[in-house]
Amino acid sequence: MTLIPSVWYKTDQSNRFLTHVWCQTDRSKRDGRRWSLIHSEAAPIDRELLGPSLADFRESYTLPGVAYTSPELFAWEMRHFFDDSWTCLGRVEGLIAPGMRRAVRAGQGSILLTRDEAGSLHGFFNICRHRGHELLPVGASAQGALIECPYHGWTYRIDGSLKSAPHLGYRPGFQVSEHCLVPVRISEWEGWLFANVSGDSGPLHEHVGNLAAFMEAWAPRQMVEVSRMDYLVEANWKLIHENYQECYHCSEIHPELCRVSPPTSGVNLDATGIWVGGWMDLREDAETMSLTGKGGAPILVGLSEQDRRRVYYLALFPNLLISPHPDYVLTHRLEPISPTRTRVECRTLFERGVAARPDFDGRYASEFWDVTNRQDWAAVESIQRSAASPGFRPGPISEMEDAVYLFFNMVATSYVEGRLVRPKNPSMLSKPLR
Ligand code: FES
Ligand SMILES: [Fe+2]
Repeated sequence: MTLIPSVWYKTDQSNRFLTHVWCQTDRSKRDGRRWSLIHSEAAPIDRELLGPSLADFRESYTLPGVAYTSPELFAWEMRHFFDDSWTCLGRVEGLIAPGMRRAVRAGQGSILLTRDEAGSLHGFFNICRHRGHELLPVGASAQGALIECPYHGWTYRIDGSLKSAPHLGYRPGFQVSEHCLVPVRISEWEGWLFANVSGDSGPLHEHVGNLAAFMEAWAPRQMVEVSRMDYLVEANWKLIHENYQECYHCSEIHPELCRVSPPTSGVNLDATGIWVGGWMDLREDAETMSLTGKGGAPILVGLSEQDRRRVYYLALFPNLLISPHPDYVLTHRLEPISPTRTRVECRTLFERGVAARPDFDGRYASEFWDVTNRQDWAAVESIQRSAASPGFRPGPISEMEDAVYLFFNMVATSYVEGRLVRPKNPSMLSKPLR
């Protein structure tokens, strides 16, 4: 029987305050209810500071500054928001070719991905079973049938089994089979690869929820990466989410965007998974989001009349922002580095056949979004600088920021509950009074 430390909690009558009690439980006998209790660990942030973010929509305020600067809170988020859920690692195709292996950052640590010649993927902790050296530096890739640890030369096969441990000498009872690389749970959806590092999340399809059916019309699985824009943003990863969730700022900082999409348009959608998002209209004379309003690829087959005139902004927690356009899909993948720094991978995806045409040029999309991205990064970096100041105060949000509320209210509730909770739905929020 495997005994692991677990955390149970008690709540008061209002079901809010948690008391933690450490105990031991048999991992093999966990039921669904205990599952969520095991990872309950209230976040290291003063509960009083969260009150305004837990309030109803029209009375709420953004998160306190410490939520964007605290190393302890950041470590908690990596455990509970990233390791305990499904973190996006990128597009399978762009990440790792058959016969390759690659180390990628995921939450608190790194994962070694391997892909055999037949295309099957495996995920392991990027940790040697001898004394724990990383098998590859994060971001590095390598080729070949054997994985050799750079420290003392233990070698593993692509499936994680130990092949040799040189000069180990006589160790009675040593079992090669007990020293395989430790597997990490990975799963694919529409061409994106996800990892659940703790192994304790429900299945990926539950995490994605009704976003899966929604995305069917764009069929991202048939798309390829056409442009890659990588940024190092000096801001907390949550500020990037919050900025993505509103266009209140658009008329101030995005003149190019406002020429093709009215900043006041759009409505947010009800979600069954862990995602928040909605849509915005294209202006009558704009075909898509580009600097001229003109496109350079056919409108995707299968889109409704409505979807041909909209751009959606859908944030799949914790780190994949998906923006379907009439003719392409834009994505941002967030990789938090520290409380104040985030790596952002922005990609444009086009239908494979269109991208392969000799006369195809996808720069109309990437040039527009590179301009817009940089405007956004300047804004969130400015907020980050303010968040560290004793003069920073949480702000009242506008009714154009309902999705920002859904995001920070979910984060604040999760801090208090000690585990990731689903966002509220936009239809649950109070309607405008006029
Ligand atoms: S730590 Fe890998 S071989 Fe020693
Ligand atoms: Fe923006």
